[in-house]
Amino acid sequence: MITINHLHKSYGTKNQRLHVLKDLSFTLPEGCLACLLGPSGSGKSTLLTILGGIETMDEGEIIVDNTSLAHLNKKELELYRRKKLGFVFQFYNLVDNLTVGENIRTGAYLSDDPLNVEDLAADLGIADQLRKFPSEISGGQAQRVSIGRAMAKKPSLLICDEPTGALDYESAEAVLHLIEALNRKYKTTVIIATHNEAIASMCHVILRLHDGSLKSYEENKHILSAEEVQW
Ligand SMILES: Nc1ncnc2c1ncn2[C@@H]1O[C@H](COP(=O)(O)OP(=O)(O)OP(=O)(O)O)[C@@H](O)[C@H]1O
Ligand SMILES: [Mg+2]
Repeated sequence: MITINHLHKSYGTKNQRLHVLKDLSFTLPEGCLACLLGPSGSGKSTLLTILGGIETMDEGEIIVDNTSLAHLNKKELELYRRKKLGFVFQFYNLVDNLTVGENIRTGAYLSDDPLNVEDLAADLGIADQLRKFPSEISGGQAQRVSIGRAMAKKPSLLICDEPTGALDYESAEAVLHLIEALNRKYKTTVIIATHNEAIASMCHVILRLHDGSLKSYEENKHILSAEEVQW
């Protein structure tokens, strides 16, 4: 379970502060697939990087699986990122001089209880790509590799920042299908930040951010399967 209480974040100097997250509070149940919507600049990535232990908060509390992030020291925060968390970036961030298989294994190495890389690659539909380098695969395949790397450590929380933003329709559909399958199979809690309203229809919880505030929190009563999602 993820609980966020009165989270604040601002950037800038004392005289020129930009208040990016303003008193955010919400809870996500374990195993839930959540969607984070909001216009550009509303604070989605900021929230995800704080939740991911990459960026610090100014005020408030984030509790993930009974652990309060604000109370972790540097070493503990590193362990949180390594063991509990999978992060999928819009532009993949693969390591160019490692093969697809090696990229996924960098995720598995971080875990005491990793998924089997070959099984995962089969789930991802990239079993025949493992020996290739990132420059030799398509964008949709690269995004699947980055999801594979994030999932290989079997994280309890998978954070996806615009996972389909750089993809064509077919590849985006495939990636959504995959995220849905991983959420169901491994009960991983997933948060997807996106501009694409259609993605919300397959999510259990829909969060809307506006100018750093939570505009709405909706439990989706009519969840569509990834296959049914169209735009
Ligand atoms: N490191 C930083 N330093 C200063 N300002 C920042 C920093 N990171 C983000 N911001 C500002 O915080 C606000 C929220 O940015 P954020 O990236 O969280 O938005 P977003 O909702 O993810 O937008 P997008 O949909 O375009 O990705 C923006 O006004 C941005 O300029
Ligand atoms: Mg963003």
